Amino acid sequence: MRLIAANWKMNKTVSETEDYIKKFLKLVGKLEDREVLLCPPFTSLYVAGKLLKDTPVKLGAQNCFYEKSGAFTGEVSLPMLKELGCSYVIVGHSERRRIFCESDEVINKKLVACLEEGIRPILCVGERIEDREAGMTFKVVETQIRLALSGIEKYTDSVDIAYEPVWAIGTGVPATPEDAVEVHRFIKEVLKDLNPGSEGRTRVLYGGSVKPENASEFMKHEEIEGLLVGGASLDPESFAKIVNSF
Ligand code: PGA
Repeated sequence: MRLIAANWKMNKTVSETEDYIKKFLKLVGKLEDREVLLCPPFTSLYVAGKLLKDTPVKLGAQNCFYEKSGAFTGEVSLPMLKELGCSYVIVGHSERRRIFCESDEVINKKLVACLEEGIRPILCVGERIEDREAGMTFKVVETQIRLALSGIEKYTDSVDIAYEPVWAIGTGVPATPEDAVEVHRFIKEVLKDLNPGSEGRTRVLYGGSVKPENASEFMKHEEIEGLLVGGASLDPESFAKIVNSF
């Protein structure tokens, strides 16, 4: 089933979250043939979990720490997220890599912890504009995937991957669906190489300036198995349009 995920980033207070979810649930139907996921900030997860309980809309976090508990000031663990009803966590978003200096090694530890805890990670990968211009897109994406999945190659079926070219995030300039498809096919090849016997349950999502106006252009392609939406997910009507657009 295809996955349409909302990454709210650092937006929305608890009361704004409540308003959003009440509106959003009225705008989407039973969602039998697609999976829909909301990833609010940590502070909104508790209320979001209560409102989404017994609905078809899933709850996820935007980040996690890899230890279960302890002296890690400011961090949030996977058991904490699980108790709030999170079934997904976004790991290695380019904003975390760039602004918070998250290394491939840390991302790998987070993925290992997610698998141990039974929370499905959405691993984000993607090249910068300099990489693309230098013809390094495939190399960068492959390196990010191999390092992130190092030691857990056998469990690729328990992970989803979001291809998010850094230059397309928040810029209003998405990749063309054709460019995205090319990278998605490449990611599938890398996954096959990493885990030859797998059933191929890893979905490859596209993210970067997805809007109601272009969502169906991406979803026309079978290689694009979902979307990770930032800015256009902040308004419940806009995100519902994306969810209902294919
Ligand atoms: P955007 O963000 O839709 O605002 O480009 C996507 C993301 O960062 O996941």
